[in-house]
Amino acid sequence: MAVDLLLGLQWGDEGKGKIVDVLTSKYNIIARFQGGPNAGHTLVFNGKKHVLHTIPSGIFHDDAMNLVGNGVVIDPVIFKGELKKLEEQNIDYRKSLLISRKAHIILPTHRLLDAASEASKGKAKIGSTLKGIGPTYMDKTGRNGIRVGDLELSDWKERYRTLADKHESMIAFYDAKIEYDLEELEIEFFKAIDILKSLKFIDSEEYIHQAQKAGKTILAEGAQGSLLDIDFGTYPYVTSSNTTAAGACTGLGVAPNQIGEVFGIFKAYTTRVGSGPFPTELFDEDGATMGRVGQEFGATTGRPRRCGWLDLVALKYACQVNGVTQLMMMKGDVLSGFKTLKVCTAYKYKGEIIHHFPYNIEPENVEPIYTEVSGWQEDLTAMSEDSQLPKALNDYIEFLEKELEVPITIVSVGPDRKQTIFR
Ligand code: IMP
Repeated sequence: MAVDLLLGLQWGDEGKGKIVDVLTSKYNIIARFQGGPNAGHTLVFNGKKHVLHTIPSGIFHDDAMNLVGNGVVIDPVIFKGELKKLEEQNIDYRKSLLISRKAHIILPTHRLLDAASEASKGKAKIGSTLKGIGPTYMDKTGRNGIRVGDLELSDWKERYRTLADKHESMIAFYDAKIEYDLEELEIEFFKAIDILKSLKFIDSEEYIHQAQKAGKTILAEGAQGSLLDIDFGTYPYVTSSNTTAAGACTGLGVAPNQIGEVFGIFKAYTTRVGSGPFPTELFDEDGATMGRVGQEFGATTGRPRRCGWLDLVALKYACQVNGVTQLMMMKGDVLSGFKTLKVCTAYKYKGEIIHHFPYNIEPENVEPIYTEVSGWQEDLTAMSEDSQLPKALNDYIEFLEKELEVPITIVSVGPDRKQTIFR
């Protein structure tokens, strides 16, 4: 069986968690392939909100297996907190959660390095979630990292000490001085490691291959968004992993010719949290309305998200880089009440009109060119059928499908599982 992928197409926070949750009943295995606790996947059902950071969004379904793949970075302390919340809800995760031995571990000193690096950057800071993501992936590619499988080795604590000592000398090297008590952080860390070690570690690429052979259905769950991809995103204002489709191949060990559907999730408008260019960003009442109605605050950091109109130049780029086969539009309900909507369909780039996503989208180079379309006034949140959608929204959807050349198969009209319209 081919592996289907689910990815965010913007700067993250598109609503991937909700859609994985909605689709999980069709899949035997849900596998996270990159990122770590910088992610915050929000699921709402039975009137309750659940936020997952590292654990795949299939964990609330009895029949799904959930795999944390080799491309993921795990902070044992945050992971322990996630497990505790599952326990409080009587979720028996021990039977349905598997961890790749090749996943890398975020050490307390990775978090400290992240903080020191950001603080020393001043105005040029990335706006990182400060979860240690960048330093952990640096150690992975620098071939210094500690992997989950290392925890099964007798000398892993010596390896830990060597790396943590090295990190401490690096922290001292930064201009910005940060206060910390490593001993205290380590007490918490080693307790969390014990909990992590009580879970099932596996050779996950073999597990995936065997599952495919046995005809199991697999959904690979992405984190962050395509515009935060380390290669294709708005570098350096990106995360440190491949958030695009190729990341699922390296982050799970799935061959490119084994990829089936590629579900691309996008919001009906655009948001971004952290620093970096954002051509369609709004600084007016329209942007404030999107933020307020859409409750645009980071699920991991609580930071307010920057809001703006939909950017089709960026979205088209994300569809191409990922090979998106189906689109899913989130938060159409948030746009109810706007008389007209703007959609960016081209950029004025260094004085020329262009339709592709260029190397540099800094405001001094890029000015968005908008097409105006009619808005809709109806409250969408109680709608459950395609036929109930207002004409202006259907026109908006058809306009996007024509521009993007990919069908929109799901329209989400609210955070709850039930507020999902299949087209
Ligand atoms: P880091 O991955 O925590 O280092 O953050 C790098 C950049 O990616 C920052 O601008 C973050 O705000 C952004 N970022 C990281 N994870 C997410 C996410 O899950 N949603 C939205 N933005 C994210």
